[in-house]
Amino acid sequence: AEEIKSLALRPAFPAIAVNRDNTITVPPGYTAQVICRWGEPLFSNGPAFKIDRSNSAAEQAQQIGMHHDGMHFFPLRGGQSSSERGLLVMNHEYIDDDALHPNGPSVVDGKRPAAEVAKEIAAHGISVLEVARGESGWQRVDSAFNRRITGETLMELTGPVRGHAKVRTKFSSDGTRTRGTLNNCGHGVTPWGTYLTCEENWAGYFSNRDETRPREHSRYGVPSGNSRYGWDTAQERFDARAKASSASGDFRNEPNTFGYIVEVDPFDPNSVPKKRTALGRFGHEGCWFAPPRTGRPVVCYSGDDAQNEYIYRFVSRQPYVPLMSGNSRDLLDSGTLYVARFNDDGTGRWMAVDIANPDLQAAAAAAGVSFADQGDVILNTRLAADLLEATKMDRPEWGAVDPVSGEVYFTLTNNSRRAANAVDAANPRGPNAFGHILRWRPENDDHAADGFSWEIFVLSGTETDSAVLPGQGGSRKLGADSIHASPDGLWFDRGGLLWIQTDMSGGQLREGPFGNNQMLAADPVSGEIRRFLVGPSGCEVTGITMTPDLRSVFVNIQHPGEGGGNEFWPDFGNAPPRSATVVVTKDDGGIIGT
Ligand code: FEO
Ligand code: CA
Ligand code: CA
Ligand code: CA
Repeated sequence: AEEIKSLALRPAFPAIAVNRDNTITVPPGYTAQVICRWGEPLFSNGPAFKIDRSNSAAEQAQQIGMHHDGMHFFPLRGGQSSSERGLLVMNHEYIDDDALHPNGPSVVDGKRPAAEVAKEIAAHGISVLEVARGESGWQRVDSAFNRRITGETLMELTGPVRGHAKVRTKFSSDGTRTRGTLNNCGHGVTPWGTYLTCEENWAGYFSNRDETRPREHSRYGVPSGNSRYGWDTAQERFDARAKASSASGDFRNEPNTFGYIVEVDPFDPNSVPKKRTALGRFGHEGCWFAPPRTGRPVVCYSGDDAQNEYIYRFVSRQPYVPLMSGNSRDLLDSGTLYVARFNDDGTGRWMAVDIANPDLQAAAAAAGVSFADQGDVILNTRLAADLLEATKMDRPEWGAVDPVSGEVYFTLTNNSRRAANAVDAANPRGPNAFGHILRWRPENDDHAADGFSWEIFVLSGTETDSAVLPGQGGSRKLGADSIHASPDGLWFDRGGLLWIQTDMSGGQLREGPFGNNQMLAADPVSGEIRRFLVGPSGCEVTGITMTPDLRSVFVNIQHPGEGGGNEFWPDFGNAPPRSATVVVTKDDGGIIGT
């Protein structure tokens, strides 16, 4: 494939109209192909998907997981061009338990059946799938790299929380290990070529019915009643009550082993995933790196997607040196975590979420709060950020770093709990039904600097209630080609086009002017936005990656058919709805979006 010669690409495809069709719509001149459906066996001789939904847990563990989300294409070199063969690594955020079982989820004598729960756990996690482009488009390959990581896979805890008294459990009495990763939403890719999978709404998978719950549970919303899928009734590790005389006799600390960014080496199928606790414990949407600079720390950003939560940054202690491979380097284990304050004058500041920060010490003392050590601060990242008076955001979802300008973009998806009298310049609408996208430029273009300047890129919404670059000398509104709401996925291709994906739900999805969830391309300089793809009924469009030649774009379609229907994408007939990846190519072989 020829090199991408020009940066700063501009969207140049005909925008498509909003629609509510139960299919994938792309612009004329483009073709969409469905690959990697939930339930496909990892290997061609593996257990076939059963449309009567009767696959077992053991079979599900050898099949692609459910509810695809963040995703990355890692090129593979060798006989073919790196844009024709690679590893597609993707998250499986959560499950549709009606689609997972022949008669939906059941409860027997107040308990979830063990076999159903085991299947549900096996449908979570990530998939590593080798794919190659051939005569008939993209196909999966039987590959030694193909792997499932599930809610049951052995994981190591690394960084400040490793071995902490508050992560000792009956499973790991020294607090160094845990099992599984759950609710993996967005993702990240390290400069050294590993995949980061990010634990978002993990708290609901547990239950703690004790009279008083520790702050490590209550501040994160670990339920005091029923857990999300009732797993606590089937497996003791999801029941976080204190039942024994010591923490290593029960699972009171199991929820404390969740809420992290997890590093996975997709090129080593035997590697043990590592929960990198230095990057904070919260509802991680994803993790996005500033361009690495040799001899300088690595810097990455992560948002906490819950109403009125925060945006964080991590700066490594050790400098980056190129050619670091796999998990051999532990750059993400030591460094400083920061949380953002967005001032109303367009400036901003990163504040260290660190036990050595005198501002944190003073605020904690004033509030009567104490932290035993940095591990304790990390376990209570949200509380520490509260004390630092960070800016409460409208649900930070994905971030993206502009390869041309170095600016960082973040989606704030919406916030029904933002009161009209509690707005600020960075979260200017209360309630915020439609969401918006912020961007900032680090001081001196140094992502490790503590200051930045920020502005709003777009206030999402309707043709009457929206604004593009509102601070830049008079704003424009979105039009028929660009209206959208609840921006979530966000990604820069290396040519400089900004891709926006939406996660509307409820009435906004059913009745709004926006049609089905969709993906749009934006010009970060002019603010022009054009709709590129509309998903099938009920789905969320999330997860995007391209081949290095920018001629194939992979997009995930999550929870198609949510909200009901008679026939479900992509198989229709009697088949259940199936999350899947869509790969879009241009019929003339050109660069996507141009
Ligand atoms: Fe799983 Fe914040 O979206
Ligand atoms: Ca999301
Ligand atoms: Ca979302
Ligand atoms: Ca989702």
